[in-house]
Amino acid sequence: MQIAIDGPAGAGKSTIAKLVAKKLGITYLDTGAMYRAVTLAVMRQGADFSDSAAMIRIAGECDIALSDDHVFLNGEDVTDAIRTPEVSKHTSDVAPIAEIRDILVEEQRRIAEGTSVIMDGRDIGSVVLPGADYKFYLDADAAVRAERRYKELSEKGTDQTLEEIHRDIIKRDYNDMHRESSPLVKADDAVVIDSTPLGIDEVAQTIISHIQA
Ligand code: DC
Repeated sequence: MQIAIDGPAGAGKSTIAKLVAKKLGITYLDTGAMYRAVTLAVMRQGADFSDSAAMIRIAGECDIALSDDHVFLNGEDVTDAIRTPEVSKHTSDVAPIAEIRDILVEEQRRIAEGTSVIMDGRDIGSVVLPGADYKFYLDADAAVRAERRYKELSEKGTDQTLEEIHRDIIKRDYNDMHRESSPLVKADDAVVIDSTPLGIDEVAQTIISHIQA
């Protein structure tokens, strides 16, 4: 069984996908974490975010592994390091590059092969797993998404204000939806869920009910 969950930043995709994976006993793959890991590798190598050739080379050399909620880059646990505002910002420089997407999409399809998986991202239903058994597009108002992210970041300690996070989210939505290579789109056959008024458990239950129906 393959389940695709797409949607904009902060819609709750990863929290919900993790929950659904646990309830159904299947593998969860956070594809955003892979783009973030490449971004971190570019930062660490001191490459310029306008140098596509260098970024493509670095992406080709990255060994990214996802296991039990942890993300490893070349063997190092980078689970927290890939969630900084700087990485979030620069992932928008890395994710539009078609050659980098090809590398990561190939790896995502390899992981999905022969196993039941729920994958979240921007292009899962449209590009990575177009034949997925179930496709969901999870959305929520930008202001609500900003508030959720602010709360999440505040718990970890951040100096970003709610207004800054809101601005970032609007900018990331624009970048994700308007890039040339695999923009964020709702697949024609995806079920749209607006999580604005819903809690995490309600969204997870909506998804599970669709699958069991
Ligand atoms: O889901 P996230 O916020 O962790 O994603 C980080 C970035 O990666 C975001 O800018 C969108 C991009 N991304 C993408 O282009 N395609 C995916 N399948 C997943 C994420």
